[in-house]
Amino acid sequence: MEKLRAVGSNQRGARESLPIANGNPQQQPKKKCSNLMPLFVLLVVVAEIAFLGRLDMAKNSAVVDSWADLFHRSPPTTELAVGGGDDLPLPVGTEDRSSEPEAENCEEWLEREDRVVYSRDFNKDPIWVSGAEKEWKSCSVGCSFGYSIEKKPDAAFGIPQAGGTASVLRSMESAQYYMENNIAQARRRGFDIVMTTSLSSDVPVGYFSWAEYDIMAPVQPKTEKALAAAFISNCGARNFRLQALEALEKTKIKIDSYGGCHRNRDGRALLAVDKVETLKRYKFSLAFENSNEEDYVTEKFFQSLVAGSVPVVIGAPNIQDFAPAPGSILHIKELSDVSEVAKTMNYLSENPEAYNETLRWKYEGPSDSFKALVDMAAVHSSCRLCIHLATAIWEKEEKSLSFKKRPCKCTRGSETVYHLYVRERGRFEMESIFLRKLTLEALESAVLKKFTYLKHMPIWKEERPESIRGGNKLKVYRIYPLGLTQRQALYTFRFNSDSDLKAHIKSNPCAKFEVVFV
Ligand SMILES: *[C@@H]1O[C@H](CO)[C@@H](O)[C@H](O)[C@H]1NC(C)=O
Repeated sequence: MEKLRAVGSNQRGARESLPIANGNPQQQPKKKCSNLMPLFVLLVVVAEIAFLGRLDMAKNSAVVDSWADLFHRSPPTTELAVGGGDDLPLPVGTEDRSSEPEAENCEEWLEREDRVVYSRDFNKDPIWVSGAEKEWKSCSVGCSFGYSIEKKPDAAFGIPQAGGTASVLRSMESAQYYMENNIAQARRRGFDIVMTTSLSSDVPVGYFSWAEYDIMAPVQPKTEKALAAAFISNCGARNFRLQALEALEKTKIKIDSYGGCHRNRDGRALLAVDKVETLKRYKFSLAFENSNEEDYVTEKFFQSLVAGSVPVVIGAPNIQDFAPAPGSILHIKELSDVSEVAKTMNYLSENPEAYNETLRWKYEGPSDSFKALVDMAAVHSSCRLCIHLATAIWEKEEKSLSFKKRPCKCTRGSETVYHLYVRERGRFEMESIFLRKLTLEALESAVLKKFTYLKHMPIWKEERPESIRGGNKLKVYRIYPLGLTQRQALYTFRFNSDSDLKAHIKSNPCAKFEVVFV
């Protein structure tokens, strides 16, 4: 069955969850504007009133106009270090400095001076991807899919394109069966964007999501005599799964095999529901993939989790990254592990408490690491593709000269304020944050403060099972520079120290980050 899914037609389709959390994409930018603008306007008005008091209004309206202009247009230069708060250019002809309006603070000044107007507004001119149907409900950036040939698309699925259209490879098959899914190979063939199960691909497409799998479904009594169930459709594979199955059988572990491979039980197990219902009665489930490839983890694994049947895995060498908690799965890394794993299975089956411990996550919730991984899929991969494309378009524009003029920091006296941008993973819009101290703690606390102030709702909120949604308080799982792969973001990248962060911000003015809440 797995092999029948042809490349190109093996797109995610109905498998994928429909995101609902980000129902109103327009909401964020509005909030952002309303944030500081009233304050700024108020400041200007107060300043003008104070100024007008000392002017003959009728005669000097022209001066007032130009003064207001001056107020809006002339910022202090970045490195200008003037004591006190009066480093704004003063209107010509003002004698009494002591009654000057309070100058705007660094935050307000930066918010204005670093503001950039991009030539493309994705609300009016959405990202346009050809070669696939629209299959998601909402996206935080304008995003349209279809087959129209009237307009030049930003990206297209299928063979590499010429002339400014990004070519996208999307497949959920193992690169060991379909060499073309290997990221390096796809790049060599000219694909600009790779979407595979690899968390190192540009836009990962996983088999997992909260919507598709009732991962927190309650554990059922283990009523079957056999220790484990196997659903292996055919014995062929590019790994040792057949040999492992045979070796396990030799250790006298009783296995009920429902699939085509070594079948010894009949059952209406072809339908996914029946399969999961059947698995629920077994202590263990043999989740044997057909290839051992990083991040290639299919429904075999996730159905075992739903069923509360401890997965015994042959497959991704990094399968522990997908475990709902430490000690919740068994991994046969190589054939010689079989006897050790068989021993563990026997031990667990004879010790109910120890066995129950492997399923503790079912009662108490999975690890943050697991939640952060599955939460990624709360945003449909097509939407994540649009966010990826839109981000690239804006970043390209930021390389132009006019964007390079942004100050990105503001120094007053001995104090420097750094302007950074942060967005939640899965959303497009960025929020401003300001740091006085370049420390990891200050960064996290500024992010929490800003998003709490915005009453931000994590994008996965409505999709995660209710029992593990957590309260209303935001909790940061990771903050990482925009542009990292999910493998880097979730597993391999860390700012190791404050000086790491400092170096990053100094070499990336107006640095942009993504935050994963958990
Ligand atoms: C397993 O542990 C949970 C609590 O962690 C408990 O509620 C449940 O009754 C236990 N089940 C068995 C079969 O011991």
